[in-house]
Amino acid sequence: MDLMLGTAMWGWTTPAQDCYELLDTFYGRGHRLVDAATNYPINKRPEDFRASETILRQWIQANGVSDLQVCMKVGSLDNMFTPDHNLTPSFLLFNLEHYRQHFGDNLACFMIHWDNRSEPEAIEESIVTLSRIRKTGLNIGFSGLKHPEVYQPFLTKYELSTPWLQLKHNLLYSDRPRYGSLADACRVFAYGLNAGGLKLDAGKYRSDSSLVARSGKEQPDTPPLIKELLALQKDWEQHTDAPSLQAFYQAALLFGVHSPGIQGLILGGRNRKQLINNLNTVEQMQALPASPWFDELHALHQRHAPADRVI
Ligand SMILES: NC(=O)c1ccc[n+]([C@@H]2O[C@H](COP(=O)([O-])OP(=O)(O)OC[C@H]3O[C@@H](n4cnc5c(N)ncnc54)[C@H](OP(=O)(O)O)[C@@H]3O)[C@@H](O)[C@H]2O)c1
Repeated sequence: MDLMLGTAMWGWTTPAQDCYELLDTFYGRGHRLVDAATNYPINKRPEDFRASETILRQWIQANGVSDLQVCMKVGSLDNMFTPDHNLTPSFLLFNLEHYRQHFGDNLACFMIHWDNRSEPEAIEESIVTLSRIRKTGLNIGFSGLKHPEVYQPFLTKYELSTPWLQLKHNLLYSDRPRYGSLADACRVFAYGLNAGGLKLDAGKYRSDSSLVARSGKEQPDTPPLIKELLALQKDWEQHTDAPSLQAFYQAALLFGVHSPGIQGLILGGRNRKQLINNLNTVEQMQALPASPWFDELHALHQRHAPADRVI
């Protein structure tokens, strides 16, 4: 299972100093994959546009590192959560040039981020550009595609082998079925494992909690799944061989690690302590035989994940 460090909250709920510590820790444990996007953090503060990638670049420069593997997502024109995107060949190539200079050898993947288009002609144009980029040796990929079925035939036509794909996959919702055979052809990374920072104990939200910041609600909603997870927690306490289920992230990672069709997890820890807990938990979950604990979580997921949600 590949682990990628998420940066969506950098410069928002995670201040720069904590981001540097996250990178120190992640890199120090031997991991290299880092996820980034032009529009991070998407906090609707124009002055923070590209703040997250700036922090990443500062750490790279300060440490003289050239073996990080940054996955850079482009297309957004702002960090206001608007659908305004530009995926034309010239804009993609302009971004590519910029990020090659920005990250040097640390740039590992160049990814389209959010595409609501359905017109095959426009999508093919972007794919042709990506296939040219792929031929230079850089990985390419996709995230947030509204019409993956339109992309699918172009992968074959332009011989794009194993592009990277980021999709939302957690106990409450999975985009994996919607991506279907496109995902089968990709190296799939799951994001949003904790549903943006969901807590088992609703009393544990803080004013700077990720889900509070993202939802704008002081007390985020508690989905019905939490009640069942708490029942599972009680049940698992009776079994000495059951994995620990004291917090939501443990269930989230157990589910992510053992989910079929997922090759990588994007970790969203906000600070060093959370990141270390996540890395240790992934190691423990990987060592664990998948059944029956994963089966119980999977059954819960099937009861609670709406099958028909579209991005
Ligand atoms: N391609 C895309 O469209 C896309 C979309 C979304 C995200 N992503 C990528 O995926 C990354 C992760 O996404 P996400 O932030 O939505 O992930 P997430 O795992 O759903 O949520 C992260 C939040 O979960 C909580 N958490 C995580 N580990 C924890 C731990 N060990 N203990 C306690 N709480 C823990 C923290 O909440 P608190 O803040 O409350 O402590 C943290 O801020 C992003 O940074 C981004 O790089 C990509």
